[in-house]
Order: sequence, then C-alpha cells, then structure tokens
Amino acid sequence: MTAPSPEPFRDLDWDPQRARAFADRTVDLWQELLERLPEMSITHGEDWGTVRDAVTREIPEGPLGDDELFAYLREVVFEHSTFPGHPRFMAYISGAGTVPGAAADLLAAGVNMNAGGWMLAPAAMEIELHLTRWFARQFGLPETASGIVVSGGAMANFIALKVARDRGAGWDIRVEGLTAGPPLAMYMSTETHVVSTRAADMLGIGSKAVRKIPVDERFRVRLDLLREAIAHDRADGVRPFAVVGSAGTVATGAVDPLDELARLCRDEGIWFHVDAAYGGPAAFTDDLRPLFAGIEQADSIAFDPHKWMYTPLTGGCVLVRDPQLLADSFSIQAAYVRQDKERTGRGIDGTQLGPQFSRGFWALKIWMSLLAHGRQAYVRRISHDAELARYLGARVQERPDFELACPVGLSICCFRYLPAGLPASPEAEAYLNVLNERLMTDVQQDGRAFLSNAVLEDRYVLRACIVNFRTEAEDLDAVLDIAAEIGARLDAELRPGSLKQGAA
Ligand SMILES: Cc1ncc(COP(=O)(O)O)c(C=O)c1O
Repeated sequence: MTAPSPEPFRDLDWDPQRARAFADRTVDLWQELLERLPEMSITHGEDWGTVRDAVTREIPEGPLGDDELFAYLREVVFEHSTFPGHPRFMAYISGAGTVPGAAADLLAAGVNMNAGGWMLAPAAMEIELHLTRWFARQFGLPETASGIVVSGGAMANFIALKVARDRGAGWDIRVEGLTAGPPLAMYMSTETHVVSTRAADMLGIGSKAVRKIPVDERFRVRLDLLREAIAHDRADGVRPFAVVGSAGTVATGAVDPLDELARLCRDEGIWFHVDAAYGGPAAFTDDLRPLFAGIEQADSIAFDPHKWMYTPLTGGCVLVRDPQLLADSFSIQAAYVRQDKERTGRGIDGTQLGPQFSRGFWALKIWMSLLAHGRQAYVRRISHDAELARYLGARVQERPDFELACPVGLSICCFRYLPAGLPASPEAEAYLNVLNERLMTDVQQDGRAFLSNAVLEDRYVLRACIVNFRTEAEDLDAVLDIAAEIGARLDAELRPGSLKQGAA
C-alpha cells in the first residue's frame, strides 16, 4: 500500500506564525474588552430569540476568512454577552476573572495536557496537587490533606459527599449499592446551597434523605435542632453519614458555627463537610478568619477559586483531610490503561481521584494568578470586598428609600427598596415583594448595574455580592441611585390605589 499523501489534509494544522496571528487577533479583542469594560452596558437585555438569531449560523463547509470570523466574534463578545467583570456587576457569586488566569487558559489549551493521567500531564498533576495541598494548609487542614481541581462548587460538594457516603455507609456501597444497608441521611441548614441537595439525588439517596435544619436569626444552622434530627433518625434505624456546614451561605453570607458543628460530628462519628465554595477565601484574611474557627477540623471542604479568588470560570476545588479516601471512592481500573509506575516513577493519575476520566489543566489559571499576583494581593482585596459590602450596608441604612434586610455577611449585602408613604401592613409587605421583584428584573435589563435577589423569610430582597476586584465605593453609590431611579418609576406604575397616600 502506498503511503497516504498528507495533502490536502493539513488544513487543521496551522504553522506557528499563523497560530500567532490568529491568537493576536483574539488578544486584540480581549484588550479592547478590558479597555471598554467600565463604560459598557453589563447586559443588552435581549430575549433568547434575538440572541439566537444573532449568534447562530450555518457551519460552513469551507473556512471563514479571518476578517469575517473576527467581525463575527467581535459581535458575539460586545453585542450579546453579559459581563461579570464589570465594576457594577454584583449578582450571584461571579468572580471578575483574573487577567493572568485568562492567559493561563489559552496556554493550558495550547499545551492540551490531559490531567486524567499523570504520564499525560506530569506538570499539570504535580501543580494541581501542590496547589490543593497549599489551599488545604490555608484552611488549617493537616500537611497530608489535598484534593483535586474540579468544575466548581457543585462538583466539589458532590465529590466530598460521595466520599462521605462511601465512608459512612458501613458496607461496600460502591459494589453492593444502596439497597444493601439501612437508609442514609445527611444534614444541612435550610440556607445550604441547593447543590448539596442535588448531590443527594445524584448519590441515589434522594433529596428526601436531606434533613434541612432551620436557622437562627443570623441564618446559621440551629445546633439544638440538628442534634434532635440526628437522634430521631438513629432511633428510626436511619444511618446519618454527613453534616454539611456552610462557610458563607449564598443568600446572606452567613457562616455556620463550624467549631460546634465539628465537635458534634466528632461526638456522633459523622463526616463533617464544609461548603466554603463562596466564603472560603475569607478564611485566608486576618480580619475575617475568626469567623471560620473550626473549619480546620473538617473532613472535607468544597471551595471555589472562580468565586472569591476571582479566577476565570470554571475552577473549583475539593479538599479532603485524608486524600486516600478520594481514591477509595473513585478508583477504577481500565484494561487499556496499564503502566509500570515503579519503572517510570510516575505519580498519581487524576482520574483515580474523581468522577472525570479526561481532565483539563484547570489548575493553571488558579496557579498562574497566584504566582502573578502573590497571596497578599488576594488577602487585601478580599478584606476590601467585605469592607465595601459593609459600606453598602451603611449607605442603605442612611437612605430613607432603602432598608437593610439582614446584617451584612462576608461580602453580601441584602436590602430592599422602600418607597415613602407605605403603611406597615400585610398588603404593603406583599406589594413590596412585587415591587422589589420587578425592580431586580428591570435593573438587570437596564444594563447599568446587575443585582440578584434573595428571599428571606418570605421577603423578596435585592442582593449585592462583591467578589469583583473592579468594584469600588462609587459603584455602590451608583447602584443605589440607579435602583432608586428605577424603583420610583415602578412604584408610580405599580402601587395599588389602596396603598396610595390618602387612600381610606
Ligand atoms: C455556597 C455555594 N455552594 C455551592 C455553589 C455552587 O457552585 P458552582 O456554581 O461553582 O457549581 C455556590 C454557587 O453560588 C455557592 O454559593
């Protein structure tokens, strides 16, 4: 057989100059984005049909020319994107995206190592393990603790709870399945992020096995009710296997009493997991660290650099006190992956520590950001974010047209628009919910600022979460002015006659 000719099959293999020219044009767009970001509208308020029609197109049989391609990309980026890196984006928990982190993603994709296997990604695996060991030490876990980099908080919580389930069941649940033993239960507060409930679903125990424990007036889990729930389950023959403590709840930034939870878990012999996906980095700062006392006793921690460490999406971490348990929970052998580790000195394969098989070099964007900025830059900025949230809380309290909804927690401030002339009545409360819900939607559509919401004991409130190194006090003042301007317009439109001044 004659050797197949390489022509015309080289289309996909660009030479380095062509690659460079292409990347340069990509970087030009990125630079323009960074330059224009503060002046741009955060969102364009378009509906899905408009966006679909604008950004989708037929895949061509032949290549698009670079000019056409970059004109198209420019439109995708500037006309149909939402910008979490904008200084007045304060919704959900969405980091601004570090600049070195974005560059690292390009490099990681360029090298294209597969961190599923050590031999395919030696540097990636060793950096990832070093990084997770370092994070574990920042939380006060022992030197031997480590973990892996995953897609985000949802996956980090799921992996940790899978380890907890496998460890706590008391039978070989990986092989025998759930039906080989008594029913299992896990415990968390009503404020715990929904991903832990979904983890229960994915673990096969079902969301009914999640005991949602009520919270105190600061939105922290009620320990007395937690103890009762565990005792009740034990009496019913149910096996408790995990308690999830929150180190920064998504709604209000509340931190559960971690020290007491750790003691309770130790006494009860239950796995202590901490969801620190949002709040975790605050534990690295001197001023906020005391809130996290007890986190060092956790069996596992979920923690998201793509939130309050600002690295680009996606990159979360699961940290485990005893990393052997990760391997016990996930290791599996494939006949087509055989290697002589003794002869080669190869290290740990990432695929043995989590549910993914192929794995990208996600750790690089976190690692490069830490190297480029240094630890102190993070610590300073995280404290500053929390200070800004307290500033926003104080401004809200100074203004007659707003009301603080709960104490500021970490870098989250919840408040609501309160127009003048409303009586204190159930009807007015119901109206305030309607008004504030519309207000949030209209602020988001407006594009000058971007807030989200929380629902606190049936009150619908606006919520600002500052995990953005571009946000400063003037942005917070602007957000309140914008919300007041839109709020006044909506109030004039929506207030029922019975709540208008002078109504009988
Ligand atoms: C406390 C907490 N846990 C878990 C998650 C889910 O994390 P991710 O969106 O990275 O999957 C979030 C998201 O906001 C969160 O705030």
